[in-house]
Amino acid sequence: MAMATALRSSPLVPQHRPRFPVSAVAPWLVMLLALAALSCSSPVAVAAGSPEVVELTLLANAQEKGAVCLDGSPPAYHLQRGFGSGKHSWIVNLEGGAWCNTTEDCSDRRMTDLGSSKFMKAIEFEGILSNKRSQNPYFYNWNKVDVRYCDGGSFAGDAEGKDRNGTKLFFRGLRIWEAVVDELMGKGLATAKQALLSGCSAGGLAALLHCDDFRARFPQEVPVKCLSDSGFFLDVKDLSGERFMRSIFSGVVHLQNVREVLPKDCIAEKEPIECFFPAELIKSISTPTFIRNSGYDSYQVGNVVAPGGSDPGQSWSRCKADIRNCTSTQIEAMNEFRKEFVEALKVAQCKSNWGLFIDSCFNHCQTPFRITWHSQISLRLGNKTIAEAVADWYVGGGHGVKEIDCEYPCINPTCSSQLDL
Ligand SMILES: *[C@@H]1O[C@H](CO)[C@@H](O)[C@H](O)[C@H]1NC(C)=O
Ligand SMILES: *[C@@H]1O[C@H](CO)[C@@H](O)[C@H](O)[C@H]1NC(C)=O
Ligand SMILES: *[C@@H]1O[C@H](CO)[C@@H](O)[C@H](O)[C@H]1NC(C)=O
Ligand SMILES: *[C@@H]1O[C@H](CO)[C@@H](O)[C@H](O)[C@H]1NC(C)=O
Repeated sequence: MAMATALRSSPLVPQHRPRFPVSAVAPWLVMLLALAALSCSSPVAVAAGSPEVVELTLLANAQEKGAVCLDGSPPAYHLQRGFGSGKHSWIVNLEGGAWCNTTEDCSDRRMTDLGSSKFMKAIEFEGILSNKRSQNPYFYNWNKVDVRYCDGGSFAGDAEGKDRNGTKLFFRGLRIWEAVVDELMGKGLATAKQALLSGCSAGGLAALLHCDDFRARFPQEVPVKCLSDSGFFLDVKDLSGERFMRSIFSGVVHLQNVREVLPKDCIAEKEPIECFFPAELIKSISTPTFIRNSGYDSYQVGNVVAPGGSDPGQSWSRCKADIRNCTSTQIEAMNEFRKEFVEALKVAQCKSNWGLFIDSCFNHCQTPFRITWHSQISLRLGNKTIAEAVADWYVGGGHGVKEIDCEYPCINPTCSSQLDL
């Protein structure tokens, strides 16, 4: 964890935070992040261009609209203007950072940038948000927006609460979504010639939740698409029979009153909690969507397949730290997870204009980082980096980009260049 913490406070990198649940980060991922941090501040990177530091913009009239962070402060985003042929193209990225499912949890977030804009600063754009063609071959010159995550509920809730000592808590993710998109509309999004809604982890789930709504804000002839990275959370049992994601999501759905954002056809038949899971959500999404996820997503393997509490002998820690040290039973459990995942994706397979990039590299969130999005050492499927696969899907209407990696013990060799396995 030391490196991730170092990343947060590095003076060279204004606020370069991993936007995913850090509790599940495996040591090799920390190495990977360390590598990213080193290369960010290396002379080579500086020579290649100055860091793309993008200022924070606080939402105007936030309080008036009740569109506020957990602590009542205004939400915020970062906007970098497009140029050249990308001048009228827009990418809106929703940040992730797990969820808070209890009053205590949400209350704790008030003192961080995940619950209050008081703690937010300028950030550096990279990966899918980079304005360098070499790092971001397709979207580099688009208008790029990064929406900060400060509601703890994937931009989906609408409620108020009180913490133990009576301080108000605001669960206004849905209003934040609405208000930020409205404000961006006035800044040029309304006349976009094309648009992409993206996000990773809790933000990847948010991109699915809001995909059709985003689409509906543009004229029919404007191409609008969605990209969800590592947002495909599964409702499966762990080793001890508990359903980890369900226990978190049920807290989020009830505490934060998540309802309006859920597909009507789903909640007509099912409990709201079920409709919050991507396996159900994607059945209702009619907008072309790209799903990028590892079939062995490290967050879900760490928390869903084998969470700390369900692993008394710690036999999973060795396996989670290094795939070569997994027992055959452990590989079997992970493959069982992958099987359910691939099964749930059949719906997406059948939609002709959807894209899939399901690698087997044991990772979480690849679009926000330079080396994982598009670099010499990025993982590849069909010899394409994630950036190239997304671009092919985007340009070609999705046809032909449905990549699903092999199952363990087969290992994609491009995982190894990245992870030193
Ligand atoms: C409320 O309780 C938290 C600890 O749970 C504490 O940090 C905070 O200062 C308290 N706030 C007030 C207004 O008492
Ligand atoms: C909140 O999530 C945790 C897992 O992080 C789970 O153990 C707990 O039961 C959940 N509580 C509620 C109220 O949803
Ligand atoms: C994995 O196994 C190898 C050989 O048994 C050992 O050297 C290494 O420390 C193990 N790694 C972990 C993370 O346990
Ligand atoms: C894979 O792609 C790279 C460049 O993107 C190319 O140089 C290389 O020849 C390709 N390899 C194969 C086997 O197609």
